[in-house]
Amino acid sequence: MSEPKRLAEAFLQTTYQVAGHSKRDVQQLKQAFEAVDGGTASDVYGSGPIIEEFQQKMAQYLGKETAVFFPSGTMAQQIALRIWCDHKGIKRVGYHPLSHLELHEENALQELHGIESVHLTDRDSVIRLEDVQRLQEEVACVLLELPQREIGGQLPSYEELVAISAHCREKGIHLHLDGARLFEILPYYQKSAEEVCALFDSVYVSFYKGIGGIAGAILAGDAAFTEESKVWKRRYGGDLISLYPYIVSADYYFDLRVGKMEQYYADAKELAALYNQCHAVTTRPEVPVSNMFHVHVAVPKEKLESIVASICEETGIGLTHYVRETAEQTSYYEVGVGDRYAAIPKEELRHAFQLLNKKLSGVE
Ligand SMILES: Cc1ncc(COP(=O)(O)O)c(C=O)c1O
Repeated sequence: MSEPKRLAEAFLQTTYQVAGHSKRDVQQLKQAFEAVDGGTASDVYGSGPIIEEFQQKMAQYLGKETAVFFPSGTMAQQIALRIWCDHKGIKRVGYHPLSHLELHEENALQELHGIESVHLTDRDSVIRLEDVQRLQEEVACVLLELPQREIGGQLPSYEELVAISAHCREKGIHLHLDGARLFEILPYYQKSAEEVCALFDSVYVSFYKGIGGIAGAILAGDAAFTEESKVWKRRYGGDLISLYPYIVSADYYFDLRVGKMEQYYADAKELAALYNQCHAVTTRPEVPVSNMFHVHVAVPKEKLESIVASICEETGIGLTHYVRETAEQTSYYEVGVGDRYAAIPKEELRHAFQLLNKKLSGVE
């Protein structure tokens, strides 16, 4: 059996898993619907109490005038950037070279809208004020992703954010928040969602990352912006006749988990410290600023797969179900802490890490 397959299979057999909330199975949807009255009316093409009430609830939580529910963040953010480009009459936006738009959306901004992107910094850094200040080309909008997922979920300081926001306002540059993991960073910033969102003209949040829903996104901003976004949502085919399975689950898991972000953040710091005590391991960031971080190991991918699989088999604890190569001799994986972490007996967890350390040191 190949090492990736062995690891995936060994992981499936484990009693405890270190990351995430639960399996992505149909039970996730059933649980969300357990207490919902079967006579509740569906939304219809974007209208109806079930969608409108959730949109109002999220607009209020984010401190924005209005909000629109979208089936995906990919759709919501392309639309947000298109609107800001139309407003400014400039078909250019600035963002991080490892943003979701750059890596995972098949060049949609360019292909669908003719919008160019400018990379504001290098692949290893977070965007700083000076990056935005030294922009040579005019941009309609700057997109900030908080936290920056592909570099382990790093964040600028809050003061830096405030300064970027003030600079953009002064220069007439729209500021959009990719808040796929916004809820997860609030404990680090010690700010409310409303305070963070006040720095941005438009905001996207996700309901299937730290919240752990099925799928779905909210795009929020002022009323003129969200009205325009509804037209684009229709053009994109995003106005499904019924979005309620996503809305009910988003609402249910939001209520269940938004108050647990402080716990996930504390757990992530504890877990990262366990990793950092192991030979050849460093986490990025070293001390997490949300529930997520990356585990970098100075060991080739296949070897790490084999070690982690053997830890699954010997301890019943699943550290990860996959490993990615960074270079010939180094590899990494992502960890996002959720409900599962607290269920692991601490003694067993410590034992798994002692074993990991031994195996990485070549002692066992
Ligand atoms: C930072 C970030 N932005 C945007 C998205 C897009 O969200 P969706 O999967 O809902 O299209 C993701 C999804 O992983 C993401 O991580």
